[in-house]
Amino acid sequence: MDEKSPASSPPDSIDSPRIFQTLNKTAPYPYSKREYARRFLWNVVYATFFRFSPPRSFWWRRFLLKSFGAKIGPHSGLRPGVKIFHPWLFEMGDWSMLANGVVIYNLGPVKIGDHTVLSQDVYVCAGTHDYTNPTLPLVRPPITIGSGVWIAAGAFIGPNVTIGDNSVVGARAVVTKDIEGGAIAAGNPARVVKQRPMSAE
Ligand SMILES: CC(C)(COP(=O)(O)OP(=O)(O)OC[C@H]1O[C@@H](n2cnc3c(N)ncnc32)[C@H](O)[C@@H]1OP(=O)(O)O)[C@@H](O)C(=O)NCCC(=O)NCCS
Repeated sequence: MDEKSPASSPPDSIDSPRIFQTLNKTAPYPYSKREYARRFLWNVVYATFFRFSPPRSFWWRRFLLKSFGAKIGPHSGLRPGVKIFHPWLFEMGDWSMLANGVVIYNLGPVKIGDHTVLSQDVYVCAGTHDYTNPTLPLVRPPITIGSGVWIAAGAFIGPNVTIGDNSVVGARAVVTKDIEGGAIAAGNPARVVKQRPMSAE
C-alpha cells in the first residue's frame, strides 16, 4: 500500500485530543497482601462449598461468610447464587434475604438492616474510580441499606448511597443518590414515585 494513503497515515495530531488516562501508571496491586490472601481463600471456599451448597442450607452459608468476618443475623439467608466480594466488609441484620444473582461488590463496606429483601440480580456497587486522576485509582465508598427495605429485581445501587428504612426500589432502577425512608423509588435515574402505604397488620 502507498505509504501516503489515508489508511496508513498517522491521525491528525492537531485535531486529536490528548489522552488523559495513563493506565500504565496505575497501581498494579491496589489491595494489601493480607487482603489478596483472604480474597484467594474466600474465592476457593465460595466456588466450592458456598456455590454448590443445597438451596435451603442458609445456616451453612452464614457460617462460611461469618468464618471470613461477615456479620449476619441468625435468621437471615443468602441463596447459593449470591456473590459477595469481601465477606469481612459485609454486615446484614436479622430476617433479611438475598436472592440468587445478587452481587455485593463491596470494595467498601456494605451494611444491610433487618427484614430487608434484595430480589434477583440486584447489583450493590460499593466501588468506583477517581476519574479526575489520570491513573484512575480505586475508591471504596460505603453503601447502607436500611431495615424493612425491598429492592426489586435487577436494580443497581451505586457507591455512597444510603437507602432509608421501609423504602422500596423498583425493578431495574439505577440508584445514584440517597432514597429517603418510606419512599417507593423507580426508574433510571431512580426517583421517588410515591410514598409506601404502610397499614397496620
Ligand atoms: C416498584 C413496584 C413494586 C411498584 O409497584 P406499584 O405500586 O404497583 O407501582 P405503580 O404501578 O403504581 O407505579 C407508580 C409509577 O411508578 C412507575 N414505575 C413503577 N415501577 C417502575 C419501575 N420498576 N421502573 C420505572 N418506573 C416504574 C409506574 O410506571 C408509575 O408511573 P406513572 O405514575 O407515571 O404512571 C413495581 O413496579 C416493581 O418494580 N416491582 C418489582 C417486581 C419484582 O422485581 N419482582 C421480582 C422479585 S419477587
